[in-house]
Amino acid sequence: MTGMQLPEFVQRDVELASRTTLALPGKATFWAEISNVDQLRQVVGSSALRRFVLGSGSNLVFSGDFDGLLLHMAIGGRELIGEDDDAWYVRAGAGENWHQLVSWTLEQGWPGLENLALIPGTVGAAPIQNIGAYGLEVADRFLSLEALDMPSGRLLRLDRTACRFAYRDSVFKQQGWHLDACRVITRVTFRLPKAWQPLTAYTDLAAELDRQQTTHPTAQEIAAAVIAVRRRKLPDPTVVPNAGSFFHNPLVDGVVAERLRWTHPDLPCYPQPDGRVKLAAGWLIEHSGWKGRDLGCVGMYEKQALVLVNRGGAQGAEVIALARAVQADVRARFGVELTPEPVIL
Ligand code: EPU
Repeated sequence: MTGMQLPEFVQRDVELASRTTLALPGKATFWAEISNVDQLRQVVGSSALRRFVLGSGSNLVFSGDFDGLLLHMAIGGRELIGEDDDAWYVRAGAGENWHQLVSWTLEQGWPGLENLALIPGTVGAAPIQNIGAYGLEVADRFLSLEALDMPSGRLLRLDRTACRFAYRDSVFKQQGWHLDACRVITRVTFRLPKAWQPLTAYTDLAAELDRQQTTHPTAQEIAAAVIAVRRRKLPDPTVVPNAGSFFHNPLVDGVVAERLRWTHPDLPCYPQPDGRVKLAAGWLIEHSGWKGRDLGCVGMYEKQALVLVNRGGAQGAEVIALARAVQADVRARFGVELTPEPVIL
């Protein structure tokens, strides 16, 4: 098909349904399991192909077949690479499971990642969309990462500033690294401060700790409470396929938020340092009549309207159609634009 030489470990015509948490059907023309940097260097010559790096597929929508090369990130390993008076420094391979990393650091007695327990996905994907939950973002515990610059074959090191983190955003998304696999994240290093402070202000988390009558929670107890909240509100992708929040919480001008609050006093609003206000997309979707409502084989989850779920047998096109319908209704009712959070291919 391409006339190019692909290494032997590249497979052909690989089914995708079991490779993403939304379980949409499709196939990839080429698929490579990447366990080390050397294998990445071997696929550099595939640049004529469309390429994409896939972790555990928990933030991804395949709208159909993928005619190109999928690089399945499986670089493993996790270790304490250093320690000083202020912090522990932990490095992990991009293919490591995120939640397993969180659990392992807590078992070792290095707190700091507990609020991010049970987030699906891999370590390498975490900085791309700056994963966050319950008052913490990965940027808050990030030291640096290594990425392979595919054209030159050189390993780059990016620190926190170079990553330009923002709400569910980073330089990788801003420059489209995640879309053409021009630079591929291989390892990430975290900085876990020894002066640990529990972060328990997030409403759902505070309520859960209250329920458990935990007044001075340990990091392990916070992780357990986060897990309990997530299990109660968010569908388990192995039971009800989904990709987590399907839209970003929209950031709007302060004046726009004020106007909306005037007509909808219970709309949850989170003022940002730059004067903008973050709105709760789940609330907007619920109040547009979509909570628990289906369109074809997909729907918006009954316990959390921000999560789009596959009720069974859905096609990529149905996901796109539902997303558009929800966007149109939220726009018509509130004048607010919702943007999808997962990558849509
Ligand atoms: N809400 C509703 N109806 C709903 C859902 C939410 O009214 O159906 C209201 C809630 O009552 C609350 C507000 O919206 O007042 C916020 O809801 P919630 O605390 O459940 O969080 P979220 O803003 O919907 C975000 C993240 C989640 C993360 C949680 C907890 C985004 C896009 N989503 O959701 O992240 O777990 O906060 O920190 O920022 C993900 O990114 O995939 C994800 C699950």
